Amino acid sequence: MEFFELVKKRQAVREYKSDQVSREDIMKILDAANHAPSGQNQQQWEFIVATGKTKDMLGESYGKIGEAYAAQWEEPAKSDFIKYARTYGGAPVVLAVTVTASPHPVVRRMHLESGCAAMQNIMLAARDLGMGTCWMTGPLNDEAGLREILKVGEDREIVAVTPLGYPASWPPKRERLDPDLTRIVHWLD
Ligand SMILES: Cc1cc2nc3c(=O)[nH]c(=O)nc-3n(C[C@H](O)[C@H](O)[C@H](O)COP(=O)(O)O)c2cc1C
Repeated sequence: MEFFELVKKRQAVREYKSDQVSREDIMKILDAANHAPSGQNQQQWEFIVATGKTKDMLGESYGKIGEAYAAQWEEPAKSDFIKYARTYGGAPVVLAVTVTASPHPVVRRMHLESGCAAMQNIMLAARDLGMGTCWMTGPLNDEAGLREILKVGEDREIVAVTPLGYPASWPPKRERLDPDLTRIVHWLD
């Protein structure tokens, strides 16, 4: 897909078909992630591909978070969100990006931002292959649980996770708050 079209067509997808994603496509997506820019060229990211029982455990963890988060919501939004959380939208795969941990705030920021660059490449590569993703930090509300399920030690930090799969449908496009860039661009001479 042409780049500017691709960027505009990436959307957060929260409902997936159960169709499997091939290992080859997952590796293509992670290869794109591995070509992101990184602080000090440390390429400090690692990727976890969660399927099967591991994905189910992630769903149990996020499901509990979802129940608390949506407790005051009206139906059917409440049940829909909890179902999404428990199953990661029914996606067959959940990807996690981790980076090197650091106690130093500026270094930590550098590592996390490198991980974010890798995350964005994942989303764009997946979209180019006709797949959906949804950048998620909500699951980190149970960081200890996530670390245990994904076997991530204290020497690494979880940046975010995303479901990966073929969308049940593409959601309506979230309109930009400032589509003409009149408010958010600041030119300084
Ligand atoms: C840093 C970050 C954290 C996010 N965390 C979550 C999350 O925990 N759960 C979720 O369903 N969506 C999450 N999202 C997705 C946003 O809700 C979504 O990107 C936003 O609504 C805009 O929609 P769009 O991606 O289709 O443009 C997150 C996105 C970002 C960038």
